[in-house]
Amino acid sequence: MGSSNGHCSISLAVLFVFVVTGDANLGSCGCFKRIFSFGDSIIDTGNFAYTIRNRSPSPPSVLPYGETYFHHPTGRGGPRIKTDWGNSSIRKLTKAYKPHNMLYTNALSDPYYLSAQALGLPLLPPSLPEEKTGQFPTGANFAVFGAMALNPNYFKSRYNLSVPFPWSLHDQLATFNKVLTRIAPGDAATKRLLSESLVVFGEIGGNDYNFWFFDSELSKDRNTPLQYMPDIIDRIGAGVQKVINLGAKTILVPGNFPIGCVPVYLSTHKSNTSADYDQFGCLAWFNAFSRRHNQLLKQEIGRLKSRNPSVKIIYADYYGAFMEFVKNPNRNGIDSPLVACCGGNGPYGTGLPCDWNAKVCRDPSRFANWDQVHMTEKAYSVIANGVLNGPYADIPLLHAC
Ligand SMILES: *[C@@H]1O[C@H](CO)[C@@H](O)[C@H](O)[C@H]1NC(C)=O
Ligand SMILES: *[C@@H]1O[C@H](CO)[C@@H](O)[C@H](O)[C@H]1NC(C)=O
Ligand SMILES: *[C@@H]1O[C@H](CO)[C@@H](O)[C@H](O)[C@H]1NC(C)=O
Repeated sequence: MGSSNGHCSISLAVLFVFVVTGDANLGSCGCFKRIFSFGDSIIDTGNFAYTIRNRSPSPPSVLPYGETYFHHPTGRGGPRIKTDWGNSSIRKLTKAYKPHNMLYTNALSDPYYLSAQALGLPLLPPSLPEEKTGQFPTGANFAVFGAMALNPNYFKSRYNLSVPFPWSLHDQLATFNKVLTRIAPGDAATKRLLSESLVVFGEIGGNDYNFWFFDSELSKDRNTPLQYMPDIIDRIGAGVQKVINLGAKTILVPGNFPIGCVPVYLSTHKSNTSADYDQFGCLAWFNAFSRRHNQLLKQEIGRLKSRNPSVKIIYADYYGAFMEFVKNPNRNGIDSPLVACCGGNGPYGTGLPCDWNAKVCRDPSRFANWDQVHMTEKAYSVIANGVLNGPYADIPLLHAC
């Protein structure tokens, strides 16, 4: 990091233009040699598609996913696959999430696609296809669709619940460890490699709430998720400390989105009581829930910072970034910030899965939500810009070099 500072700051103006225009050819910023990321579908670049490659049609591998950036569906590492939701855990998963949510977006699936390019690195490869052989010279993405922060056993032993997603942060960190042991064997080599890397830790934890609130029976009880929230925060904090112990020096930790503004929440928890909504049409209770999560997460980050004074731990404010579309849609070129571009004729663009039978809006760049759960490339690019340059990161990422 250190010796590249000059080059990096010179590139800032270019980077900004890139993020805004999507211009793909950019020289190396030199801040970080690699990015390693963990999380769920918000940032999965193909791990899930790879996992189920022999089992199902992966919506990320069929249009309209990918239509805007790649002009073809990608699956991001997953080959084309045939339909058979035969595996019971996958069936459960799709019951909870519906197959359409398994795509991630119309284009670049995540702010960090954009950030990777802004930082002069290529799109992050998914880890699973090359888990045992890859050298990952520019990093790897360990995030998997549906991943939870807490282990499945947590919910089994406490609440006698089988969660729809049998994989968690634990698995991602275990794979990460194995990869590090191979590509940088020995403590010193691991530390050196990680000190030159950016670690993106999340968003993770959203699914630990989603499976509860998407279930009509479970979600009658809104207190239990508030009770297990501190354990999610502890789990994220322990994971961040773990990568610090391995040698990471710069770690970005995103908070949760305002789930009360997300189409699937708005349709599942539709209310005829106007007091349940804020002035923007979002569900007030659920947004307060997300703010609570983020507040606890920021406290945890504060503790991690004081315990690890030589490490840059950056909080990314996804809540604030998303609320920017909701509060100022026109300023951002968004027509209906609470409506999904791809889906059905429901009030929030819901009612039909986003798949090859879905209704797809004509211009995704005028929408913030791609499907019921995930955002459009437009939204991600605004968020990425706010994280790279501020104001949606406590240390703007481009200033963290
Ligand atoms: C179903 O998928 C899970 C998760 O990938 C896997 O652990 C399990 O072995 C699979 N079961 C069958 C019957 O294929
Ligand atoms: C746990 O859940 C299973 C399946 O839903 C049920 O059959 C069983 O009675 C439950 N056990 C307890 C202790 O509640
Ligand atoms: C509106 O809410 C009231 C009180 O909760 C309920 O009795 C009524 O059935 C609801 N009406 C509709 C159309 O959902």
